[in-house]
Amino acid sequence: MRQLLPHPTDDVDPLPTYAVDRPRPAGRPWVASLFASSADGAAAVGGRSGPLGGAGDLQVFRAVRAVADVVVAGAGTVRTERYGPVRAVEAAADARAARGQARHPRLVVVTRSLALDPDQRLFTEADGTTEAPLVVHPPGAPLAARRRLQGVAELVEVGAGPDGGVAPAALLGELDRRGVDVAVCEGGPTLNGGLVADDLVDEVCLTLDPMVVGGDAPRIAPMDGVPAAPRAWHGAFLLEHDGVLFWRLLRDRSRP
Ligand SMILES: NC(=O)c1ccc[n+]([C@@H]2O[C@H](COP(=O)([O-])OP(=O)(O)OC[C@H]3O[C@@H](n4cnc5c(N)ncnc54)[C@H](OP(=O)(O)O)[C@@H]3O)[C@@H](O)[C@H]2O)c1
Repeated sequence: MRQLLPHPTDDVDPLPTYAVDRPRPAGRPWVASLFASSADGAAAVGGRSGPLGGAGDLQVFRAVRAVADVVVAGAGTVRTERYGPVRAVEAAADARAARGQARHPRLVVVTRSLALDPDQRLFTEADGTTEAPLVVHPPGAPLAARRRLQGVAELVEVGAGPDGGVAPAALLGELDRRGVDVAVCEGGPTLNGGLVADDLVDEVCLTLDPMVVGGDAPRIAPMDGVPAAPRAWHGAFLLEHDGVLFWRLLRDRSRP
């Protein structure tokens, strides 16, 4: 892995490179969105994100997870990508413990339906080293589904947005109450689209794969019925590995 911007550097280790200070905004955690995209903006190929990003993406994925107090994912991504428990790699877990963080980030799943399988690995393979997942849902979640998950996860109801789903600000308010400083959002596009629409994303860690896929794949931050709202961002650094680009972008809060 090498750095291209702001100045060329060879042999960059993503783990320390992404372990930078993230100042906590008032009343909510810092939100970093972690995403892989094709050159034409597709967030999935054949319904999965796996074909995007290659070996470098795995390194960056691990490095960004390593800074998270919580990893937030939409239920669609958890189902499609067959999530297991979230674990930091050993070197990162030691560094986390040394700075007073839990050894592993907690997984937070956002869902309206609560249609999650209690036999999925993220529930069954949780052990003493990881906390049970936190499942966040809006009011009105089906009682039977709540009962099914009660023994394997912590369920919390938060306020709904205009579309009836979890309001992004209510999600972050709940994490704030729990003392979360850094939330890493691993998508998917629907969850990320809500956070972007409400201007609640502080950082995007974007993997840009030199692949053009066409078709009807989702973009990384779609939001049905919400007009596009371009905002000011700047690049913090740009890395490269095997022709794939890894761009750390920061929201410029001094400008709209
Ligand atoms: N390229 C990448 O980096 C990347 C990352 C992640 C995912 N993906 C891909 O994206 C695709 C999935 O897209 P997606 O948009 O369906 O992902 P998603 O946002 O994870 O899933 C949508 C589902 O998540 C829940 N959800 C999301 N936002 C919610 C909210 N505000 N309130 C309540 N529930 C909410 C709902 O679950 P319920 O249905 O349970 O109510 C909703 O149906 C897959 O192909 C996956 O591989 C790509």
